[in-house]
Amino acid sequence: MSRKESLPSIALWRHFDGIAYGGDYNPEQWPVDVRLEDLDLMKEAGVTFLSVGIFSWALLEPREGEYDFRWLDEVLDNLSAAGIKVALATATAAPPPWLVHKHPEILPVTAEGTVLGPGSRRHYSPSSAVYRRYATGITRVLAERYKEHPALALWHVDNELGCHVSDFYGDEDAAAFRRWLERRYGTIEAVNRAWGTAFWSQNYASFEEILPPRVAPFTLNPGQQLDFKRFSSWALMDFYRALVAVLREVTPHIPATTNLMASSATKSLDYFDWAQDLDVIANDHYLVAADPESQVELAFSADLTRGIAGGDPWILMEHSTSAVNWQPRNRPKLPGEMLRNSLAHVARGADAVMFFQWRQSYAGSEKFHSAMVPHGGRDTRVWREVVELGSALKRLAPVRGSRVESRVAIVFDYEAWWASELDSHPSQDVKYLDLLRSFHRSLFLRGVSVDFVHPSASLDAYDLVLVCTLYNVSDESAGNIAAAASRGATVLVSYFSGIVDEHDHVRLGGYPGAFRDLLGIKIEEFHPLLAGEQLKLSDGGTASIWSEHVHVVGGVHIVEHVHIVERVHGGDGDDAGSGAGSGTAEVLATFTEYPLDGVPALTRREVGNGTAWYLATCPDVDSLGALVDRLLSESGVSPVAASDQGVELTRRRREDGKSFVFAINHSRTDASVSVSGMELISGTRFGGTVAAGAVAVVAED
Ligand code: GLA
Repeated sequence: MSRKESLPSIALWRHFDGIAYGGDYNPEQWPVDVRLEDLDLMKEAGVTFLSVGIFSWALLEPREGEYDFRWLDEVLDNLSAAGIKVALATATAAPPPWLVHKHPEILPVTAEGTVLGPGSRRHYSPSSAVYRRYATGITRVLAERYKEHPALALWHVDNELGCHVSDFYGDEDAAAFRRWLERRYGTIEAVNRAWGTAFWSQNYASFEEILPPRVAPFTLNPGQQLDFKRFSSWALMDFYRALVAVLREVTPHIPATTNLMASSATKSLDYFDWAQDLDVIANDHYLVAADPESQVELAFSADLTRGIAGGDPWILMEHSTSAVNWQPRNRPKLPGEMLRNSLAHVARGADAVMFFQWRQSYAGSEKFHSAMVPHGGRDTRVWREVVELGSALKRLAPVRGSRVESRVAIVFDYEAWWASELDSHPSQDVKYLDLLRSFHRSLFLRGVSVDFVHPSASLDAYDLVLVCTLYNVSDESAGNIAAAASRGATVLVSYFSGIVDEHDHVRLGGYPGAFRDLLGIKIEEFHPLLAGEQLKLSDGGTASIWSEHVHVVGGVHIVEHVHIVERVHGGDGDDAGSGAGSGTAEVLATFTEYPLDGVPALTRREVGNGTAWYLATCPDVDSLGALVDRLLSESGVSPVAASDQGVELTRRRREDGKSFVFAINHSRTDASVSVSGMELISGTRFGGTVAAGAVAVVAED
């Protein structure tokens, strides 16, 4: 059953006629007259959904056991009367001063042993038993008080779990890590095997001897580091589960979620794992002002969020109307940019568009962060755009519940992100996201939709599957990828994939052990490039970062500089990948420079009904684009529509077959897009042109 069909999720979406609209609402920062004005302004903007009470614990419970709900009662009653639904927070993202004063042991500890103090937010360890007791306590009090409140539509559990600090190294965290290891491995011998502790005299006699990977004289055990990453992601999720257990008990009819931070910046949390526990996926996204292509990173984040949601509609829980306050230089959004950003999220599957925050604070750290109601009030560009967006979202009601169509999958795995970037590797320049994002960008520019899919998930829906830097992979996932090729997909695997198993143990017999059979190649030795070094390829392209000594298995490979002809025999028997076909890989491009001149850089092998390509280096932008064109043509995948350059394109389709093309013109000139139908925002027939900087949503004929 998809999440969309689960009962709590249905309960949420049926509150809204169209795309839900609103933001974080912090009324506790304002006097009552401003709160009343808020209601009028919310009506003007078309607000339907607000997150309330995220950082309000110290006001709700000013002293232990003494509660003051007057302002929250008033706010929820008024919002409900105004027809606005609320994602009520558990208020646990910032422990109140009295709690820290009484129990300083809840505070987070870094790898260096530094205790992070109060005075900011998120100053607790998720493994602290004391903090859990208090956090589940306030959660229960809130749930009991508001369980029947008509405004309550969703629980907003904590806030951005793992933001600021995601790994915790205190003694209580160490104890929780040990318990987690015991559950995972059962015996200390199994831990020793998994971590390869025969190396450097690290063999443990008991679980009690194990510590988190705190700062040490030199590089730490990679197995320990990888498991600590897994544990840290789990520990935050386990804290979420503890709060949700209370909510399920008191309000089983109300769905629960927490706002994720899926983007190129959040590495430490395995959101594919987390997704199992969220009734609906919610994500926060902020543009990087210094990024000249911030719309591409936005698309990456939104596509990743949709992947985490398994394709179901999701909530954009926060983004900004204009500038943020936490980057080095906080540029405001350009006119129209907010609408483009918001609708780009909708184009990629969001059914709710929300901001941090409703009204811009006049005090505190975030007073220079933009909001829906700016310091300047109603007579501002931001407010006019907020009202315009509200009315556009209302007109997009027919889109709600539809799903984004994609025939291309990029395999995405947080564990591979962690493991591929551990220390002591052949090159520090191999970054998990680099090639993956280059492919995504190239497809974005071509108007081709991409789904991010976990390596263990079904790949049946895809004609093109890209596997980038999947350094660690299980036998099952490697088999899943190989099966996609046998079934008929075009599968491309890049360098530094399939090298180790899930314990970070090298798959012996020649790289890439997990994909050797599938690809029909064998890598003898890595040749990472020096900083800035570029290689020429035989097809005229250039490449950087990586090269390697690839042999085609069973084929003839001429290594010219030593004037030998060698034949490599493969099939050592311990491979995980299933090479369903029997073809020999053809070499499509080679390295051209000593000592790898003539060595394959790009190969392709027919496998069953599909193909398996191997890319042994990191091509420049144009070479990658040319490769993408070849892959698209072989897999028969075409863009959403023909258009001029600079137009972002996606298609969402409803279960009844009705489809909607989103065309977002990021350029400064009008652009043509060949789709026909009614344009929903204007309510007129689409004339084939999207004005400079504008957005068209076309309900296709
Ligand atoms: C995060 C938090 C919000 C706010 C914004 C500012 O997303 O969840 O409370 O601090 O950042 O961008």
